Amino acid sequence: MSTTAAPTVPQAKAATETNVPLLDLKAQYATIRAEIEPVVREVIESQYFIGGPKVEQLEREIAVYCRADHAIGCANGSDAILIALQALDVGEGDEVLCPTYTFFATAGAVHRLGAKPVFADIDPATYNICPNSIREQLRRHPKVKALVPVHLFGQAADLDAILDIAKEKGLPVVEDAAQAIGTEDAHGIRVGSRGAIGTFSFFPSKNLGGFGDGGIITSNDKRLGDRMRRLRNHGMEPRYYHDEVGLNSRLDALQAAVLSVKLRHLDNWSAGRQRNAAFYDERFLAAGAKTSATPLSAGGFALRTPQPAPRGARHIYNQYVIRVPAAIRDQVRDELTRRKIGTEVYYPVPLHLQKCFAFLGSGPGSFVQSELAAKETIALPIYADLTAPQLEWVATSVIEAVRSLS
Ligand SMILES: Cc1ncc(COP(=O)(O)O)c(C=O)c1O
Repeated sequence: MSTTAAPTVPQAKAATETNVPLLDLKAQYATIRAEIEPVVREVIESQYFIGGPKVEQLEREIAVYCRADHAIGCANGSDAILIALQALDVGEGDEVLCPTYTFFATAGAVHRLGAKPVFADIDPATYNICPNSIREQLRRHPKVKALVPVHLFGQAADLDAILDIAKEKGLPVVEDAAQAIGTEDAHGIRVGSRGAIGTFSFFPSKNLGGFGDGGIITSNDKRLGDRMRRLRNHGMEPRYYHDEVGLNSRLDALQAAVLSVKLRHLDNWSAGRQRNAAFYDERFLAAGAKTSATPLSAGGFALRTPQPAPRGARHIYNQYVIRVPAAIRDQVRDELTRRKIGTEVYYPVPLHLQKCFAFLGSGPGSFVQSELAAKETIALPIYADLTAPQLEWVATSVIEAVRSLS
């Protein structure tokens, strides 16, 4: 489903103080309790907890939803990346390229396989990996064995450019789509289906979140799919025979049962997030903000909204991230906290500046766009169950806080 039509913006009333958590899973659960309880009971009565029919059903449903031939459930989105890279024969001494501005797991999986992450910078408008930076890093690291772009915050990375580079260099692409289930690129193609492998997380804060950890891997390549199915279960096939060493990364039946129910609501929830994003965009732009395509250094009202998805694409807004000047970012957050509004910074330290990756030798100034984004960004509440008064309170509070502090 492409969502190019303008979503209907909720009609807001005058702002009054109200509690707005960053995410309210209890509000979501209240709407699906009646559907969840019977399937959880069914799994408990079956006493079939690991793998089995519920997991197989979810795998079929996600393959259809992501428009991929194969979907393989696993324990979490971090293992999904690790299994994907192992299936591509990444191991000791190899190099794998990924963005430095992402959740730790993207590079953590590379390191856990004994390989080295090679970082690339981001496009400041979308926060997604920058194709020019990929080219530059590949010139410096000609032995890179795979590319792992991330579809950050629910918006597709520039897959046309990335897949062109990959084809030219003969490199496989693992799409880290942990935050992007149902996201579509400008061709209306779902993420996770264009690269060799797509990886997804069912961490509870994701648009499709379980009641605990979970993950899934997609591929259109049967050979890779079969190998990843073995790898998630100790590399075992047939039972008690192991041609290679895998890991215990199985998806459990309770998670799968819950996720199958939630999948039926996913498009509605993502549409709700799009409506809320459109509301914030409209309010912030009317107050004088620009989109993140205009750097804060250009002046004017010191607030930048997320760059909207290009025509034909679908942004699922796993996060709605604004930019304010680094000098006031933490004060804006403090003021929002005082007004009972939950916020977060995704992510305060780019991966090349994490202590554990200091040995790679990329100090401050190595990836300027990622370092700037880490200092200027704030994620606002965006979940589908936000009420009109909550949306109004967040929009008004952000505008007032930025006005009074800048
Ligand atoms: C971009 C990205 N990659 C990987 C992961 C790892 O997923 P999980 O937490 O399910 O291991 C996450 C989860 O937060 C993520 O946001």
